[in-house]
Amino acid sequence: MLGRAHSEDPPVSTDSHSDLQPLTARRSGPLSGRVRVPGDKSISHRALILGAMTVGESTVSGLLEGEDVLKTAQAMRDLGARLTRGEDGVWRIHGVGVGGFAEPAGTLDFGNSGTGCRLVMGAVAGCAIRARFDGDASLRKRPMRRVLDPVERMGARAVEAAEGGRLPLLLQGARDPIPVEYESPVPSAQLKSAVLLAGLAAPGETIVIESEASRDHTERMLKHFGAKIVSKPHGEHGRRIVLQGQPELEPANVVVPADPSSAAFPLVAALIVPGSGVTLEAVMTNPLRTGLYTTLREMGAAIETIAKRDDGGEEVADLRVTTSKLKGVDVPAERAPSMIDEYPILAVAAAFAEGTTRMRGLKELRVKESDRLEATAAMLRLNGVAVEIEGDDLIVHGKATVPGGAEVATHMDHRIAMSALVMGLASEQPVRVDDSAFIATSFPGFVELMKGLGAVLA
Ligand code: S3P
Repeated sequence: MLGRAHSEDPPVSTDSHSDLQPLTARRSGPLSGRVRVPGDKSISHRALILGAMTVGESTVSGLLEGEDVLKTAQAMRDLGARLTRGEDGVWRIHGVGVGGFAEPAGTLDFGNSGTGCRLVMGAVAGCAIRARFDGDASLRKRPMRRVLDPVERMGARAVEAAEGGRLPLLLQGARDPIPVEYESPVPSAQLKSAVLLAGLAAPGETIVIESEASRDHTERMLKHFGAKIVSKPHGEHGRRIVLQGQPELEPANVVVPADPSSAAFPLVAALIVPGSGVTLEAVMTNPLRTGLYTTLREMGAAIETIAKRDDGGEEVADLRVTTSKLKGVDVPAERAPSMIDEYPILAVAAAFAEGTTRMRGLKELRVKESDRLEATAAMLRLNGVAVEIEGDDLIVHGKATVPGGAEVATHMDHRIAMSALVMGLASEQPVRVDDSAFIATSFPGFVELMKGLGAVLA
């Protein structure tokens, strides 16, 4: 149904996916080795988009070549930028400048990627073009009204949209974008970034206020490309971000560090598979992304930070992880933005801990690639772990051992798939996932990397 509605309630499920790729994880011997997980997904999307919004040649090395990011690369081509990948793996982007996107001939297809879709909606909102946005069955269920609200205030318009402002939608960008002061109603870096990217084309100051600080890669990268942007603390946990519009962006070289959200999977695997010792190389340790590591350390995890350094505007470090006896903890709601993608794998660690872990304030998990709150609870429950959902809190009663033995429905969600497989490496009985295909959206090579450490996956 086409039309405009304002609700963000999830519509009825319409999962449709053929060619399922089931995969089973079995109890494994000690994991060991030194690995580097692929590049950070958030930074990869932003590097391509900002490169495309800058006149001249920008380069990106270490780009995550997962399906989500490749969709963004294609969207940038469809909007008129030139992107090539050298044999050395370095991407070269010839951008069109702020406000310079060309009207795409066809639909911009973002597949499974909320980040790509929402950021590009912001970037397109500042250009006088029309573009059609679409994605897979998972992305079609996710709320887009949260982005439409601010960009409509800036002069863009959703000409058509599915119920609740969802995909597929046709967006008319603003001819003369208006700068706004926007107080974000949800702690979402995607929403903040969409407003900032639209604000690039507006004269004067675009201001975003967030009551809980979310990942700041857009702010850092805008600075790296020469924009004037200042971020100051706001309230107890928030930020006030002021961007000067219509900057002359300068081409830049971006080095993408390893993704801490991907590193989380081998890291938790090493913690729970007895006798393991794994080193993760060059993991980004931006404090707005490392809530999981803080939480795991509180649970008793041995995670040693070695060789801390700065790499292309982001802090990185090698992390040495050894199997640890974990205990249950209380995870405060204000930590959620810094570990929002890590709750499924934290829930797995909590299942192997002794005692109860309460994860508070997980409302946003309901609108991820799946309803991750329900999917995480179901993953554990089916495998013999006692879990409860109380309001927006997830409570896991850890008993140090997990029976396993069940098949987990992944609901087109890469992180549910990887979490379930990690659980199966240490549970008594194997754990099977119905579909491992979506792992390629964020972590191409996951299965091979885990097998290289000694994981039994087949
Ligand atoms: C992301 C922000 C988060 C996160 C997503 C990546 C980003 O989403 O879950 O995987 O790159 O800005 P929200 O902004 O919806 O919290």
